[in-house]
Amino acid sequence: MHTTAKETTDNNVIRIAVIRGDGTGPEVVAEGLKVLKAISELEHFSYELSEFPFGGDHYLETGQVLPEDAIEQLSGFDAIYLGAVGHPDVAPGVLEKGLLLELRFQLDQYINLRPVKLLPGVETPLAGKGPDEIDFVVVRENTEDLYCGVGGFLKKGTPDEVASQTALYSRKGCERCIRWAFEYTQRRNNPKGKMLTLVAKTNVLTYGHDLWWRTFQEVASDYPDVKADYNHVDACCMWMVKNPEYYDVIVTTNMFGDIITDLGGILQGGMGVAAGGNINPDPGGTSMFEPMGGSAPKYTGKGVINPIAAINAVAMLLEQAGQTTAARRIDAAVARVTGEKMQSQSAGKMGYSTSEVGDLVVAELAPH
Ligand code: IPM
Ligand code: MN
Repeated sequence: MHTTAKETTDNNVIRIAVIRGDGTGPEVVAEGLKVLKAISELEHFSYELSEFPFGGDHYLETGQVLPEDAIEQLSGFDAIYLGAVGHPDVAPGVLEKGLLLELRFQLDQYINLRPVKLLPGVETPLAGKGPDEIDFVVVRENTEDLYCGVGGFLKKGTPDEVASQTALYSRKGCERCIRWAFEYTQRRNNPKGKMLTLVAKTNVLTYGHDLWWRTFQEVASDYPDVKADYNHVDACCMWMVKNPEYYDVIVTTNMFGDIITDLGGILQGGMGVAAGGNINPDPGGTSMFEPMGGSAPKYTGKGVINPIAAINAVAMLLEQAGQTTAARRIDAAVARVTGEKMQSQSAGKMGYSTSEVGDLVVAELAPH
């Protein structure tokens, strides 16, 4: 399935494919890689980078979003570090489907891990809530649901037009995600108590989410130390705003996960800080880490975009690669920079340039 690259290379080297992508993607990736270099020297681990030029410009030049052998090549890496894709001259959906979703599906990155953590000094739109209240994680299923692209048109363009878009859920697909989420909740080991909340809509989606519900109940019995909890997705949106402190870990379907993690992203201070991992947890799997913000074309080349999300994505990559201490050191450094140095997390208002924020994080990595 995978190329032989992994077997033939030194096991201690983290092999990373870098897709800098479009717009401000390259600017924030540069800062993430600056931090990666610094922490690798401090923690004495090795990594190798290989650059892939994919994104909007590459598509406009070549007419292809991904070359035919892209998946095979990328599957030989331990991880992919992705900046952003999205180009003003490329129709919406082309890069999203042809690159981002294609990689998630083809590399079977069935977990989309999105921490919602308010860092010190970061502004949240929620009144009266701080870092103690906003600290939970969303585990979003990443390969099924409405994202499968199943559907079609009938009598397209006529007054009688019918369109269908079908959500697919498999037992295997929901079970592997739910099981991973229980195990993640155990590892996270929240001192306030370990709780996994299934977020779905069992009162309406009485087939697909019934499968999720039954699977969740069954799998829960293997993890008696984790409280198995359930919220309907609409109620979850209210609780996330009213009592975010209620949550420890949420597991949810792909489409609902997409929506609630944008809500989560804004609670934690917006796209300047929110990062996510598309994880294939299987042995030999290739996972992909990205800042959640887009390519922000209007800010391109100005050096004003916030690289903290991209730096957080590096920490997530290192955690997945087994460099836990390095990941925690980056987290701590980032928290000091947001808490003590930056004026804001918004583009152009940080009090520093993109590259100065990277330098501040590097400086904070040194032992204190
Ligand atoms: C995300 C994005 C993608 C998604 C889009 C760009 C296809 O919104 O990563 O959340 O819907 O998953
Ligand atoms: Mn989204």
